[in-house]
Amino acid sequence: MQHFSILKSLIRVALAHDSEPLRHQVERLAAAMTDAGDDRDAAALVQLLNSRERSTKLAPSRMKRSTIAAGERMTASVRVPVDKDSAAPLATVYMPEALDATLPLFPASVQDNVDALVREWAKADQLLEAGMQPSQSLLIYGAPGTGKTTVAMWLAQQLHLPVVVARLDGLISSFLGNTARNLGSLFDFANRYECVLVLDEFDAIAKLRDDPNEVGEIKRVVNALLQNMDAREGRGVTIGLTNHEMLLDPAIWRRFEVQLAVPLPGLEQRTVIASRLLDDGLTAEAKLIAWLCDGASGAEVQTMATKYRKRRLLRDDPNAAPIETALQVARSTSIRVESDRRRQIELDEAPLTVELATADGLFNHAELAQLFKCSTKTIQRRLSEFVGEGPNSGE
Ligand SMILES: Nc1ncnc2c1ncn2[C@@H]1O[C@H](COP(=O)(O)OP(=O)(O)OP(=O)(O)O)[C@@H](O)[C@H]1O
Ligand SMILES: [Mg+2]
Repeated sequence: MQHFSILKSLIRVALAHDSEPLRHQVERLAAAMTDAGDDRDAAALVQLLNSRERSTKLAPSRMKRSTIAAGERMTASVRVPVDKDSAAPLATVYMPEALDATLPLFPASVQDNVDALVREWAKADQLLEAGMQPSQSLLIYGAPGTGKTTVAMWLAQQLHLPVVVARLDGLISSFLGNTARNLGSLFDFANRYECVLVLDEFDAIAKLRDDPNEVGEIKRVVNALLQNMDAREGRGVTIGLTNHEMLLDPAIWRRFEVQLAVPLPGLEQRTVIASRLLDDGLTAEAKLIAWLCDGASGAEVQTMATKYRKRRLLRDDPNAAPIETALQVARSTSIRVESDRRRQIELDEAPLTVELATADGLFNHAELAQLFKCSTKTIQRRLSEFVGEGPNSGE
């Protein structure tokens, strides 16, 4: 089936909010596909349903919090530790009811790792009985804007625990000299309560190393961090986030039981991110944005789609073709758009039609006609003039 991978992603997203009618419809679709002889894709849908069923069984209410976090219950009025000199807070606390993170769209391999971790927490009792501990420390690394903070918040949400988020860059740069003491206060606070500790901008510690004046300080800070992390073992979940995992001291790296690499979103994921923001399903326009955002992060795709939507709404000429709007957005943005895409979107209509028609089977002729606001005949003519019959007529 054409675009099955995108359909599968959509179903995966929809199944995150488990609903019986939705499951029923997906089962119907799988049955219809089997009847049509599309066994492989039908099996993929059944697998998706099964894996969702498994994660639903791991719902937060079933998790044994006591095995994941120790300490007092936190309330919304809890006093967050502050720097003694400046009185600046060392962390921000989010109560579970204030968390509303949606799991970012990941390729199956990353999703499997996330599921495996949640499963460990949900089945902590079983692990303990077998003499093992559920993983309590996780390092999430990847390029900026790939959903690291969002997945950390989502994971905390699965545990129904408050989240203590400390931005280490702030903690270090503002209070150089007091950093070790502040780290101690931060960890004492997190260890006292049932909570998830999130250490954002984790590489800030490593970056200190670049400053030759701070050799003594960096040693003190790294040691303080290692000691604090060791002392936190068994007290609660700790999640470190970094864009620069290469900078991290191997000793720090080793402290984390699980390392989760968050990749840039693929075409499939970019299409779904864009379509969510365009708010009108899986249109050719969402695909166009996904195509244009080759090499961009999820956050950049969101920005691009939002810009596109604004331009579309406010354009002077209501008959302007989507491709025109995309061109204007591409020209006006500093978002990382691969140089190839920048060159392609600037092409004249006919060669651009050819580029899009040969882009991984992404667009069929009807969609190309929508994007250029012309007839499918015109699309076919352009393609036959350039390459004979287009590879991907899909109508
Ligand atoms: N793969 C993805 N799927 C869906 N949404 C995504 C994806 N990647 C990023 N986003 C969205 O982009 C926005 C920014 O994500 P987030 O802040 O979690 O990224 P980050 O990796 O923590 O960035 P930074 O390194 O700048 O801190 C969020 O709204 C998030 O939902
Ligand atoms: Mg972040």
